[in-house]
Amino acid sequence: MQKKIVIIGASGAIGKAFVDLYSKIDTVEHVFSFSKTQIDFSSSKVKSFSIDIEDEISVKNAAEVIGTQKIDIVIVATGILHNKDFGPEKSIKDLDPDNFLKVLKINTIGPAIIGKHFLPLLTKDQKSVFAFLSARVGSISENKLGGWYSYRASKTALNQVVKNFSIEVCRTNPNAVILGLQPGTVESNLSEPFKKNVARENYSHQNIALKCLLR
Ligand SMILES: NC(=O)c1ccc[n+]([C@@H]2O[C@H](COP(=O)([O-])OP(=O)(O)OC[C@H]3O[C@@H](n4cnc5c(N)ncnc54)[C@H](OP(=O)(O)O)[C@@H]3O)[C@@H](O)[C@H]2O)c1
Repeated sequence: MQKKIVIIGASGAIGKAFVDLYSKIDTVEHVFSFSKTQIDFSSSKVKSFSIDIEDEISVKNAAEVIGTQKIDIVIVATGILHNKDFGPEKSIKDLDPDNFLKVLKINTIGPAIIGKHFLPLLTKDQKSVFAFLSARVGSISENKLGGWYSYRASKTALNQVVKNFSIEVCRTNPNAVILGLQPGTVESNLSEPFKKNVARENYSHQNIALKCLLR
């Protein structure tokens, strides 16, 4: 059976790597790639569309592109840690309501709304996977350093949303696997300002793990 894959956040380093990976696998028929910044992929298997996950209408329109086709794997690889206006908070005094809300919108509310519109597209006849990129710093028990208030909180809340999805979807689609992924440290725009803190050998090598999602 040929697989249909959806990648959301395909303009990011991890999202793009997923599109490239799946487009090279023989058993994959189509990769539907969604991103805010439009990018073109060379493979004819890849169909690219735009999405703004801060806008529910945009997310709904994106899901409607799929029509009645059933999807085997959805990966949500969107996220924000910093932008040109702000970086992660080092201290209480850095807390800013607007910046905090922006991070929550992109890292928590956007993925939740994606779940609302894309979870019904999963195939029910066989195993399917719906994966959200989370982060280790979202773990409360792993938090030994503090800081990064909004990013940490947004990923902790995302983990709770993912858990809720897994409980609810299990009732109607027991073949669906809903999970959060902690990718390790990956070179990207998101991690760029912090790369000096990470030894080269500690960057993540994920291809083998990602291929396992297809099994
Ligand atoms: N890199 C790491 O070391 C690391 C570690 C742990 C967890 N993660 C998680 O992995 C995920 C991917 O990160 P990455 O490293 O690949 O970062 P990245 O290269 O900066 O990619 C982030 C992606 O999110 C998209 N995005 C942001 N706001 C959006 C919006 N409103 N609508 C649609 N797309 C939006 C960006 O799109 P545009 O560029 O088109 O705006 C971009 O494609 C994130 O959830 C991140 O928290 C990464």
